[in-house]
Amino acid sequence: MKFLNEVSSTFPSAVSLASGRPSERFFDKLDPQVLLNALVVYERYSAGGHGGGQLLSHLLQYGRTAGIIGELVAQQVRSDEGVPARADRILITSGCQEALALCLPALCPEAADVLLVCNPTYIGATGAAKAARVAVTALCNSVPCVAEAVELAVLQLRQSGRRARALYLIPDFDNPTGRVLDKASRCDILQVCARNRIIVLEDNPYRLFRYEGDEIPPMAALDEVGSVIYLSTFSKTLSPALRVGAATLPDTIFGDARACRALWENLVQRKSFVSLNTSHITQAIVAGLLIEQAASLRGWIRPALDWYRANRDVMLRQLDSVFSPFPEQIRWNRPSGGFFLSLDLPFRFGADSVDECARCDNVIVMPMSFFALDNSQDCRIRLAFSAVTPEQIRTSVTGLGRYVARRLGRELPSLVDGLAEG
Ligand SMILES: Cc1ncc(COP(=O)(O)O)c(C=O)c1O
Repeated sequence: MKFLNEVSSTFPSAVSLASGRPSERFFDKLDPQVLLNALVVYERYSAGGHGGGQLLSHLLQYGRTAGIIGELVAQQVRSDEGVPARADRILITSGCQEALALCLPALCPEAADVLLVCNPTYIGATGAAKAARVAVTALCNSVPCVAEAVELAVLQLRQSGRRARALYLIPDFDNPTGRVLDKASRCDILQVCARNRIIVLEDNPYRLFRYEGDEIPPMAALDEVGSVIYLSTFSKTLSPALRVGAATLPDTIFGDARACRALWENLVQRKSFVSLNTSHITQAIVAGLLIEQAASLRGWIRPALDWYRANRDVMLRQLDSVFSPFPEQIRWNRPSGGFFLSLDLPFRFGADSVDECARCDNVIVMPMSFFALDNSQDCRIRLAFSAVTPEQIRTSVTGLGRYVARRLGRELPSLVDGLAEG
């Protein structure tokens, strides 16, 4: 990320398709009046608990490590995400990132314990594992499905005296690939994990951003044995600056309610040493907004959803036009939601390519190798369409086309003339 920030500041006029931020155009829904009002709404709601006048001192004080808005977050996770959440199984965290940083060492406490991840995967998860000295094994991409890859990894690890303890997954509109796991795959993975007592860490920041097609139940809703910890966040739906997310534990861990309680207490204790508690002020803002939205953010995010869908469509149309001269060589997926798609190139695209692309073609893209645990992703890039305008998408994809044509020793004849109006 530091590298990409440096590229952005060196080439300020280059359009960034590298950033998976939410669009800032919807932040004015959270102007100071709205934020203040949300605090007041939360004050009224919680007046019974604290006695009206004491609320401000309560909000400005240190507080409960597990959070003060568990009941409302449980309602939102149930109604929006379909996960059977209960307030006493929720830990409010400083963004989903903190939930990862707490869960990984709690689930993999021994030196022989291993976290399984897809390859590529969200760099924040592998980075958190590294920071906590948790060993990571990438699932093999050459077996047909994730469940088989988990089975294979379990066997291989066992042979070397190690043990797969947790599996990190982003089943809906994966960051970085945009992939969605279908229901059958989710069920198969759950079965393999249950057999091997592997906890699934289901990270789902993009789930509500589905642009078409039927929703697939989250793995936490399909889980029948108590094997899924569900991570959610308000970063993409409301604002990342709030730094409010949550880890929702199941009722039992593999049928054991005491083990689940012990894990929850372990996470709370870890959080008390990391951040004491998540800011009461931002928790109260989230709570006030949830109260006003009847515990569902689906209505709140609708304008953003329409915007992201339109951006996705512009990007797909522009890719179709720009890369039509290279039908066999350049391929990409067509995600039905989320912020990202992935594009396969017939050459390596690394840090040096990012630099050249930004300098000569005014576009910054993310090499997939930045999310990879080996060199299998060297010829792919991630394109994000969330934080740019349609016009920026058109010009930047055209710039990318120019770069690719140059690398392939080809011309883009009608390309540059014919595309911009699309
Ligand atoms: C898959 C994934 N998990 C977690 C995060 C971090 O979320 P938060 O802002 O809630 O810490 C991100 C941020 O982009 C993400 O893409």
